[in-house]
Amino acid sequence: DPYANEPQRLPALIVRSQKPMNSETPMELLAASIVTPNELFYVRNHLPVPQVDPAAYRLRIEGEGVRSLELSLEELKTKFKRHTITATLQCTGNRRNEFNRTGRVVKGLEWEGGSISTAVFTGVRLRDVLLAAGLEDDDPEVQHIQFEGLDADMAGATYGASIEVDKAMSPHGDVLLAYEMNSAPLPADHGFPLRAVVPGVAGCRSVKWLGKIVASSEESHSFWQRRDYKAFGPNTDWDNVDWDAAPAIQAMPVTSQICEPAVGAVVEDDEVTIKGYAWSGGGQGIIRVDVSADGGKTWHNAELQKVPQKRGRGWAWALWQATIPLPKGFTGQLELVCKATDENYNTQPENAAPIWNLRGVNCNSWHRVPVTVQ
Ligand code: MTE
Repeated sequence: DPYANEPQRLPALIVRSQKPMNSETPMELLAASIVTPNELFYVRNHLPVPQVDPAAYRLRIEGEGVRSLELSLEELKTKFKRHTITATLQCTGNRRNEFNRTGRVVKGLEWEGGSISTAVFTGVRLRDVLLAAGLEDDDPEVQHIQFEGLDADMAGATYGASIEVDKAMSPHGDVLLAYEMNSAPLPADHGFPLRAVVPGVAGCRSVKWLGKIVASSEESHSFWQRRDYKAFGPNTDWDNVDWDAAPAIQAMPVTSQICEPAVGAVVEDDEVTIKGYAWSGGGQGIIRVDVSADGGKTWHNAELQKVPQKRGRGWAWALWQATIPLPKGFTGQLELVCKATDENYNTQPENAAPIWNLRGVNCNSWHRVPVTVQ
């Protein structure tokens, strides 16, 4: 069994698949703190967790425009400047199940809104390592930085993905090769001993158990870069999809989620306290979250809790909370709704059906939670 040596996991995680392990963080725990504890951070694995000996570990850097390099963990930690960021990682399939509820089924793990988490990551800047390997800014030969994981299938094929070189080399892009997560060594499930952390970008590009970095004129040839993690229009189905026609998802659209109360909760008061998260890709910080207790007819502002971040480098989500009045004397079912706006004034679409796509990615419609008022 290639899954015989998997790490221990907390029973609190909501498992969507055992082998490979895919599990989401329970809603009420997500909303409890800006930084998600390591044991509660969502897990998205495509393959068995590889066992890596940190003493024997070497990161390989090769490709166009660079000198081939091999770096031990010790060299990474001592030869390069330490850098820390607080960043949210989100799976492109977060909230996928909402597409299934439109009546048109999508293919993929049935995620609710818990395949997203936030941590303080520490490591070295990818830019510094690429510069040390001789890569020059704006080298016309190099358009993509490819990452290869050490996790492999039975045929030896490894997980891989790539990002654009401009993101990788930007001094303000904050792409890390991280060896710590929330001040502890990276846990096995999250890429021990080294992972890429590409803040503001879909989680699938933050390659764990990083074995190799390749500078290239081309995107990664991996299945996950070229035949998955892309979004199409609602007219595209499995029998007419042309994977090459859409770009790989990098930054994701603005989204938000009500974490409390839970779907179907009973509210016995004339007001209700709503809590949740909001996040946008590309470093666009959240500037506002609007909440409604009548399905979106009237709105209130939520109070935001954020970490200090510069404009354009808003890598971490905002948590939010609002206590709003319920209609006087009302009993019965109500729909709580939230929608977020990012610093580019992008906001969320009202419904999931018009953004339905065959792979069920980028679900970011208003989040709706039906509750009963007694
Ligand atoms: N890296 C490797 N090597 N193997 C993987 O399966 N999954 C990717 C990414 N990096 C993956 C990987 C996906 S799809 C996501 S969403 C994030 O890791 C999840 O990171 P996490 O498990 O630390 O939450």
